[in-house]
Amino acid sequence: MNASTDSAAKEAIVSVRDLHVTFTAGKKPVEAVNGVDLQVARGETVALIGESGSGKSVTLRSLLRLHPARHTRIEGRIEVAGANVLSMGSRALADYRGRVASMIFQEPLLALDPVYTVGAQIIESIRRHENISTADARKRALELFERVRIPSPERRLDAYPHEMSGGMRQRAMIALALACRPQVLLADEPTTALDATVQIQILLLLRELQRELGLAIVFVTHDMGAAVEVADRFAVMYAGRIVEEGPTREVIRNPRHPYTLALMQARADGAMEKGARLASIPGAPPDLAHLPMGCAFAERCTFAQPACLQTRPDAVELGGDHRARCLRTDATIQFGRPRMERPAIPA
Ligand SMILES: Nc1ncnc2c1ncn2[C@@H]1O[C@H](COP(=O)(O)OP(=O)(O)O)[C@@H](O)[C@H]1O
Ligand SMILES: [Mg+2]
Repeated sequence: MNASTDSAAKEAIVSVRDLHVTFTAGKKPVEAVNGVDLQVARGETVALIGESGSGKSVTLRSLLRLHPARHTRIEGRIEVAGANVLSMGSRALADYRGRVASMIFQEPLLALDPVYTVGAQIIESIRRHENISTADARKRALELFERVRIPSPERRLDAYPHEMSGGMRQRAMIALALACRPQVLLADEPTTALDATVQIQILLLLRELQRELGLAIVFVTHDMGAAVEVADRFAVMYAGRIVEEGPTREVIRNPRHPYTLALMQARADGAMEKGARLASIPGAPPDLAHLPMGCAFAERCTFAQPACLQTRPDAVELGGDHRARCLRTDATIQFGRPRMERPAIPA
C-alpha cells in the first residue's frame, strides 16, 4: 500500500474491504460481488459506474445491510463512521440506518409511503431517532424542504407523494433521506428516470448538499455524463469487482482498464447527451453463476492475452491514486485522452 492510499484510508468514512456477496436461493450460487474494496472520504463523492448487472446496487445495499439475511452470504468488512456494519445487531442497525447512512433510489415511490403526507413521514423519521417534539421536527422538515429547494415548502409538507411531480418527489425523497443528518448518502441511479432538465437540477442539488453538509456520497449510475457531473472519484465496476478507480479527471483522461476504455469509446462514438446509456461494447457480461477463472472481461477484451484467462488480476498502482485490475495496463496507456467531444459529422 502506498502513501496516498494510506492517507485516504485514514480519512475514510466508508471503508469496504474484500466484500463478497453471494445469493444462494437458486440452484447455483450467484456471485454478485466478488472482492470489492472501496474507500470514501468525508465530503467526497464517488461514482460507482458500470453496465446493468455489474453489482452496483448489490454493493450499495450491502452498506445498509438491506439484503435479506436468508439466501444471502456477505463476507468481508464494511466500516462506516467507525462502526462495523456487518456485525451490528438489529437495534444498532436501526439506529445506523438513516442517522449515519441513508439511501435514495431511482424511484421515489419506493421510499415514500403513499398513505402519509411527505411532511408526516419526515417528522416520523426524525422522531424515531431523536427525542424532540412534533413541532420541532416539523420545523426541521420545513428547513429540509427549503434546503432541497421545494417551492412553497410549507404547503408541500402536507402533500401526498402522488400530488407531486417526479422532480419534486425526488427532492422530497432526498429531504427524507437527510432528515436525521446522515454523514453518508447512498444514491442508486437517482436521476435515471428523470428527463434531462430535471436530471441536471437534481445533480446540482446533490453537489450543493455534498458541499454544504460535508456529505460523503456514493453515486451509483450507468450514465458517464451524470458521473462526471458529480463525482470526485470514479470506481468502475464489472462482474462484481471494481476494475478501475481514480480521480474523475484522471480516469476520464487516461482510462487504463480496457473496460473503462471501451465505455469511454462507446460514449465518444455515440450519443453524448446526459442519460446516454453505456452501450455498444460487443459481447455480454459473464454469467455470475459461472464466473471464469481469469479476468471476467477477458473474452470481450481486445487486449486479452492467454495469461488473462488464467488469473483474476490484482490491482496495479498507476500513480496519482489511480489503479486498475488488469494485466495489460501497459497496452492501454497509449489510448489515453479519448475524445469526449461529439465527433464531427462527416461531410
Ligand atoms: N436477491 C438476488 N438474488 C439473486 N441474484 C441477485 C439478487 N439481487 C441481485 N442479483 C443479481 O446480482 C447481479 C448484480 O445486480 P445489481 O447489483 O442489481 O446490478 P446493477 O449494477 O445493475 O445495479 C445481477 O446479475 C442480479 O441479477
Ligand atoms: Mg442497479
